[in-house]
Amino acid sequence: MKTFELRNAHFDRLCNTPGLMWLGQNTNHFDPHPSVIQAVKDALDDGSYHAYAPPAGFQKLRALIVQDLGLSDTDATAFVTDGAVEALYNVCSRVCAPDTDFVTTDPSWSWPMQFARQAGSRVVELPIFDAAQGYKLTPAQLAAAVGPKTRVIYLVDPNNPLGTCHTADEIRAFAEIARSVGAYFIHDATYAQFADDFVPAYRFYPEKAIVTYSFSKWLGLAGMRLGAVVASPDIIEMVANAPPNNLGSNVLSQRAAIAGLETKDAWFPQIKQRLRRNQAAVADAVSRVPGLTVLVYPSQANLLVIDVAAADIKPEALVAAYDERGIMIRQGTYHTKRFGHRFVKVSLSVPEAWADAFCELLPAMVERARDIDVPAQLF
Ligand SMILES: Cc1ncc(COP(=O)(O)O)c(C=O)c1O
Repeated sequence: MKTFELRNAHFDRLCNTPGLMWLGQNTNHFDPHPSVIQAVKDALDDGSYHAYAPPAGFQKLRALIVQDLGLSDTDATAFVTDGAVEALYNVCSRVCAPDTDFVTTDPSWSWPMQFARQAGSRVVELPIFDAAQGYKLTPAQLAAAVGPKTRVIYLVDPNNPLGTCHTADEIRAFAEIARSVGAYFIHDATYAQFADDFVPAYRFYPEKAIVTYSFSKWLGLAGMRLGAVVASPDIIEMVANAPPNNLGSNVLSQRAAIAGLETKDAWFPQIKQRLRRNQAAVADAVSRVPGLTVLVYPSQANLLVIDVAAADIKPEALVAAYDERGIMIRQGTYHTKRFGHRFVKVSLSVPEAWADAFCELLPAMVERARDIDVPAQLF
């Protein structure tokens, strides 16, 4: 069978598993604010979905996105997309080119690397899976890797899967390095809302910083596909020129997003607290199992990375063991060939009962992983 069929069958099975506990894709499974659901119902009732939305998104939503990134005092502007992945596809297709370098970290998020390769760029992955550098890119590392051929620096911040977040000084230093070689700086802010102190690169590099934004994680709209590109009016003009979807993103999703942003201050702090509570429960459970370690704690994203190498089990085996119990977690090889054999990722913006089920099963699942058949292909 073709790989795409296998991948699709895999996710179709997961989507059709009743009661599956989704601890693998960093999606958010907490109930949203009631106004978010109401906004979707209203848009269905009033029939506004019969018309296309404006090509760059509803004006109100565009302004709220810029505000959410703390950039209302700048000239940054938003272009709404069908998820952050479409934003990244659009930007990479526009700015990557043959005989140029696309510099990112290892681990990072792999799809933009695919987009860059498809556009002819060479992908350079800088290793950050190292406690000595706090599991983060350093300015010295980036400075040594860039040159006249560097077209793009792509930084996932907070990092998926590591959960580290850069300081304002670090982002400023990266922006200066990008400016020194004239590179675009794609700042993937998919997990920004879970961090305590996120600073968008646009603050320091308005000419060529491009921030990508998602509603899948903090607002829990993964299946409703909504995100954005935020950049200077000149860059958005380029992005808007031939986008994959020029007919406006889903009207229902946009109404939900407006309601979510308008009420965010009233409810999102509680979501963060519940996420941190789940992180604490998992960190405690991991500390009781010999050979397992949580690498970054507390995590600045809605996930935790667990190093399993010293327990002498394969991440894929642990994923398969949990799968038998209706819990989805993710193997490290989804993110990185170089370090993926060492860790699993557990997403924790989920009901407390799901996180607790993961914790209770952990010792038994590690034993089960020792003699389970590892699936030939995992996605
Ligand atoms: C770093 C990163 N960027 C982008 C995305 C895609 O987000 P969206 O669902 O908004 O397309 C993901 C999804 O997991 C991600 O981890």
